[in-house]
Amino acid sequence: MFSPDLLKGKSVLITGGGTGLGRAIGERFVELGAQLFICGRRRNVLEEAAGAINAKHPNRVAWHVCDIRDPAAVEAMAEAVWQWGPPDTLVNNAAGNFIARTETLSARAMDAVLGITLHGPAYVTLALGKKWIAAKRPALVISIATTYAWTGSPYVVPSAMAKAGVVAMTRSLAAEWGRHGIRLNAVAPGAFPTPGAWERLLPRPDLAHHFETQNPLGRPGRHEELANLMSYLASDMAGYINGDVITIDGGRWVQNAATFSYLDNLSDAEWNSIRPRKG
Ligand code: HXC
Repeated sequence: MFSPDLLKGKSVLITGGGTGLGRAIGERFVELGAQLFICGRRRNVLEEAAGAINAKHPNRVAWHVCDIRDPAAVEAMAEAVWQWGPPDTLVNNAAGNFIARTETLSARAMDAVLGITLHGPAYVTLALGKKWIAAKRPALVISIATTYAWTGSPYVVPSAMAKAGVVAMTRSLAAEWGRHGIRLNAVAPGAFPTPGAWERLLPRPDLAHHFETQNPLGRPGRHEELANLMSYLASDMAGYINGDVITIDGGRWVQNAATFSYLDNLSDAEWNSIRPRKG
């Protein structure tokens, strides 16, 4: 299914592509033939990631330092990637998040998360979208969302607001830009452990364990499972998918939302004892 030339001829920009899930997705895309451009805030991280991937697949990865909260920096990055590429696929992956009781947040804390997670993807999508439309080039945007974009979640309220906005952008522009040959989709991952997210979201082993196993499959996601879904979506095989959000969370959100999930803890004896008897 994933032949080594699945993404041959594709050029892909991944924001936050130097670490975590962005890097795992980028590595998989390169294995499947893509040219990759990564951006992020830290030069050393980008240099290391690009160096490691290029060592295995020469001349396939380029990088550019960019804080996506800064519209001028995004414009400069879009110009650089256009000179390199131009890209036909954008993965809005970079995000910022931490757990906190919402009443303790300062305005700056709210802005820090909204800036990276909502404004950043909007700036990058807009900067490239203008270029794609002017050049009459078909393109694809895949944004990383999360299931609490629609369920909401306590303790990550700015992130939930931002991800809901990213989903709204995805659906809105899918309708508006389809006529230009530009498609937009989103992916909502569940528990895919990375050092960056886990140190901010689950800073104690018991919290991490609970989050990773609280789904019907009882395990966290593997990075390659997410990378494979992304590869399918980035491929021409998925060319009719537009404006949707694909969940990959082992069934976590449906289990936690489902009315009778709390019955999971009943024993066989309890089930027998509560079964209605005839007569
Ligand atoms: C309360 C906090 C805080 C915390 C920061 N702040 N951390 N407030 N609790 N834990 C406040 C600071 O006090 C400050 O406000 C303001 O936020 C900005 O903080 P800085 O550290 O100056 O910001 P910055 O260096 O720009 O860092 C941005 C960040 C950081 C979002 C705070 O976490 C970051 O860079 N994250 C990027 C990587 C990341 O988060 N990855 C995980 C994504 S996971 P004051 O008022 O004091 O100045 C994800 C989805 C998970 O998105 C889905 C799971 C299913």
